[in-house]
Amino acid sequence: MAEQILILDFGSQYTQLIARRVRELNVYCEIHPYNKIPEITSHIKGVILSGSPCSVRDEGAPDIDLESIRGKLPILGVCYGSQLLAHKYGGEVLPSQIREYGRANLDHIDLHYDLLKEMTHGSQVWMSHGDTIKVLPKGFDVIASTASVEVAAFKVQGEETYGIQFHPEVTHSLEGKNLLRNFVVQICGCAQDWTSDTFIDATIAELKQKLGNDKVVMGLSGGVDSSVAATLIHRAIGDHLTCVFVDNGLLRKNEFEEVLESYKNMGLNVIGIDAKQRFYDALSGLTDPEAKRKAIGRVFIEVFDDEAHKIEGVKWLGQGTIYPDVIESVSVKGPSATIKSHHNVGGLPDFMKLSVVEPLNTLFKDEVREVGRALEIPENIIGRHPFPGPGLAIRILGDITADKVKTLQEVDHIFIKGLKDFGLYDQVWQAGAILLPIQSVGVMGDERTYERVVALRAVGSVDGMTADWIHLPYEFLGKMSNEIINRVKGVNRVVYDISSKPPATIEWE
Ligand code: XMP
Repeated sequence: MAEQILILDFGSQYTQLIARRVRELNVYCEIHPYNKIPEITSHIKGVILSGSPCSVRDEGAPDIDLESIRGKLPILGVCYGSQLLAHKYGGEVLPSQIREYGRANLDHIDLHYDLLKEMTHGSQVWMSHGDTIKVLPKGFDVIASTASVEVAAFKVQGEETYGIQFHPEVTHSLEGKNLLRNFVVQICGCAQDWTSDTFIDATIAELKQKLGNDKVVMGLSGGVDSSVAATLIHRAIGDHLTCVFVDNGLLRKNEFEEVLESYKNMGLNVIGIDAKQRFYDALSGLTDPEAKRKAIGRVFIEVFDDEAHKIEGVKWLGQGTIYPDVIESVSVKGPSATIKSHHNVGGLPDFMKLSVVEPLNTLFKDEVREVGRALEIPENIIGRHPFPGPGLAIRILGDITADKVKTLQEVDHIFIKGLKDFGLYDQVWQAGAILLPIQSVGVMGDERTYERVVALRAVGSVDGMTADWIHLPYEFLGKMSNEIINRVKGVNRVVYDISSKPPATIEWE
């Protein structure tokens, strides 16, 4: 088991960022909710206490018992984490009188302390707090200050316990990564040996041990996560893994054939199933987005289950679940409200009676991509944009017909190919076209037309939780509009979606 840093989450929006920064230092870390502290084993080398939307002065504010940790392992309290340490041990935390939000500079830094080694005087940091530490407990020393925040950082005498009121994990803290490196390497003594290659070796070994001679079945989507997960399982158990790739009739143009071919070339034991008509039948007449999602989910399970039953003695279900799906479901405030029913951790229903194996459930998306590249999975799979499970069904507003799917596939194909040809594809996190349920008047030659409107959408994002529309060049958009209207029958108008998430979402349904 890899050595690791334990991050205790008090609900800050930045907690995942702390984890990403630590992992970028090639040190493995895990996020656990503050109220579910895991057993402190010898693999844990240090603990980071995250920020929080709460105030330590609130009644019922998140609190923890640090007795099993304090003085035994290094601790770094970040923002709320630092205020909690101060508050708990006899200091005073009060509402800030002045603005402590945004950029600030560390005018005073005591470079003797390991945490601050090699930082520069005046280093820019990012503050974001409504409370401030006014009085430190006895035995706590100030080690850095800004013009308005005296206790920007502190250390507890005689132990490796630190607190900082700024956020080293955000890029606006220009030397934040340096500080985190000081903590995990200098203070916690981590070896920085957690890489894609070590992850792959360790995971394959674990899978071999866990699965032995058992058989595994897994649904592939053509996306990065399921492809990387399947490749790891395949490396561990070879053809004891059977993959199922379903054509639900809602994929991109030619995608089923092309991706199936790639999977075969990768050596995976994969069965391709044409279930288009089953999906279209189930979707017939449905217009409500959630009803469409549920119908697609149900038919997928039926199709998948039919195939799984053909594999004699299969014991396991492989899944491409990644870390954000796992941590999201144990957040401090409980699972976030269901806005759309797509975060289906736990996966398929019980009746399948299979145990679940999820080799990627400790990795972030970009780490999955890195592992995929190290496994030499083709770039047409690794570099592809995310694509929703219900596919084009949630990009055709209203009811679904095979004709509408065909129209949208043509539009989407022109747009995606255009992004690739113009070298824009990799600058975009996700892109696609939406078929709107309205018609508009146009004129072609001498004829008046009354045809469909499509919207193009291209967004930048890191994880899909927030997103901004991409400022695609006007010439490019103009060219796409021309090509689409000239080539796709039944479409006479193209619009570009310039909404950000929030308040919009990436998909229209
Ligand atoms: P929204 O529209 O909520 O989408 O901003 C965020 C990300 O999730 C994808 N998405 C889905 N993925 N099943 C999926 O597997 C779904 O039902 C679904 N709905 C949205 C969306 O494409 C984006 O990447």
